[in-house]
Amino acid sequence: MERTLAILKPDCTSRGLMGKVIDRIEKAGFRIVGMKNVRLTAVTAGEFYAVHRERPFYGELVEFMSSAKAVPIVLEKDNAVADFRKLIGATDPAEADAGTIRKDFAESKQNNMVHGSDSPENAKIEIGFFFSDRELVENS
Ligand code: RTP
Ligand code: MG
Repeated sequence: MERTLAILKPDCTSRGLMGKVIDRIEKAGFRIVGMKNVRLTAVTAGEFYAVHRERPFYGELVEFMSSAKAVPIVLEKDNAVADFRKLIGATDPAEADAGTIRKDFAESKQNNMVHGSDSPENAKIEIGFFFSDRELVENS
C-alpha cells in the first residue's frame, strides 16, 4: 500500500464539484484515510508550492490557492502516487487524456481542480504538511 496527497483546489470547492471528484477517486479504488477543510493563506500556499518559487506563475498560483477553501485528502492504494496522477491527467486540461478529472472539469492550466503528489517521497512530506498521524485512519 502507498499513500499520496490530493488537494481539491479552490476552483473545485467553489464550483460545487467536490462530490463528483471524490466519487471518481473512490471508484478508482482509492481509500480515503484523511480529509479536512483548510483555508490556505499566501504564506501557507507559498510554502506548499515553494518548489515553484522562481516560476513566472508562482504569484498567481499562490493567490489562486488561497482564494477559497481547499480540501487536502490522504489517499491509499497500491501504486497510489502514479495511479492518482493518471486519474487526474496532465497539468493543462487541454493536454489531459480523455476521461481524466482535469480533462472533464478543469477550466485552465492554473484552475485545474486537483493537486496530486509527484513522488512517494514528496507524498510523505506533503501529507505531513497537513496531517498529524492520529488524523489518518485506515479502513479495517
Ligand atoms: P499539482 O502540483 O498541483 O498537482 O500540479 P502539477 O504537478 O500537474 O503541475 P506543477 O508543475 O507542479 O504546477 C503546480 C500548479 O501550478 C499551476 N500552474 N500554472 N499558468 C501556468 O503556466 C501554470 N503552470 C502551473 C497549476 O495549478 C499547477 O497544477
Ligand atoms: Mg506538482
